[in-house]
Amino acid sequence: MEPLRAPTAAENRLLTDRFGRVHDYLRISLTDRCNLRCVYCMPAEGMQFMENGKHLTFDEIEAVVRVAAKLGVRRLRLTGGEPLVRPHVEQLVARLAAIPGIEDIALTTNAIFLAPKAEALKQAGITRINISLDSMRQYRFAQITRGGDISKVLAGLEAAFRVGFHPIKLNVVLMKGFNDDEVDDFLRLSMEREIHIRFIEYMPIGHDDDGWRNRYLPLDYVKERCLALGLTPQPEAAVFGNGPAEYFRLPGAKGTFGLIHPVSDHFCERCNRLRLTADGNLKPCLFWQDEFNVRNYIGDEQALADLFFRALDIKPETHEMAKVLFGERLSHQPTERRMSQIGG
Ligand code: 5AD
Ligand code: SF4
Repeated sequence: MEPLRAPTAAENRLLTDRFGRVHDYLRISLTDRCNLRCVYCMPAEGMQFMENGKHLTFDEIEAVVRVAAKLGVRRLRLTGGEPLVRPHVEQLVARLAAIPGIEDIALTTNAIFLAPKAEALKQAGITRINISLDSMRQYRFAQITRGGDISKVLAGLEAAFRVGFHPIKLNVVLMKGFNDDEVDDFLRLSMEREIHIRFIEYMPIGHDDDGWRNRYLPLDYVKERCLALGLTPQPEAAVFGNGPAEYFRLPGAKGTFGLIHPVSDHFCERCNRLRLTADGNLKPCLFWQDEFNVRNYIGDEQALADLFFRALDIKPETHEMAKVLFGERLSHQPTERRMSQIGG
């Protein structure tokens, strides 16, 4: 077999699935652990974490990414749990940034540990950053995260501006009766700062119970708030990343806001992503159970490449989150992982 080489841009269709979707984006979860306990992500107690030593090592992650890059992956995102609880993430970033073919490395973080690490992460090669912030009120932030200190997040956000990540996005998971009364405040923030607010629909990952149904809020609500404020959002043509958000700008705003509505209106036909969990499982879809463990194939590039193709071969056309909402039967088994064990 010929050795694998990085495809040219024109050939970059190696990771095409049965539905013609080209995959050039890999999300890598570095750990299932977190320094917060967001109510929608983890239970308060009893969460079983991976044992130390079960995580893919930096060498193993690098080996997987080398193969992914040869197959056409161009963009990476590091996630968790909370990726910055893993020591020396910047060392991994520098190694991934040096892999031929990798053009862009982004980070999703809760920003609690960001301020002291922002400069090193930027130097190592993180270009773009998403910060999870579901409330701007100190007391409520502590409630949602079960004890988080918002001042650390805000310091992380300012550090992100200072060192020059671009763009800077905020992920806001909207929950009915919890933070929906802050939509106006987040919209105002998008007016005042060059920041991109991504409102995200609460997804039934790892919990499809009434608790989820009662809190789920379709994102049409954000558009209703704009109208109520007398503001007409303009669709924003500029593409800010690899993701599924539709972006809008309010008149005169420095930043934008985006809507990510996997439940009310899924965007699976544009899906360009694969996921690698911290315990080494390649997941073709966030929602379903299927996964392929890379660990036994590390060191054999062709075998790893074949694993990517196997994952793509069974990638389903769509997830079925809307069926969960209406209590309908699912076509196959959804994942039992919590969001923190997948990485969003
Ligand atoms: N629904 C929607 N978003 C979620 N996230 C975590 N759990 C959920 C959920 N159930 C978000 C986090 C983070 C991103 C990676 O995913 O807030 O910003
Ligand atoms: Fe931690 Fe992110 Fe889950 Fe919150 S959403 S508990 S910050 S992994």
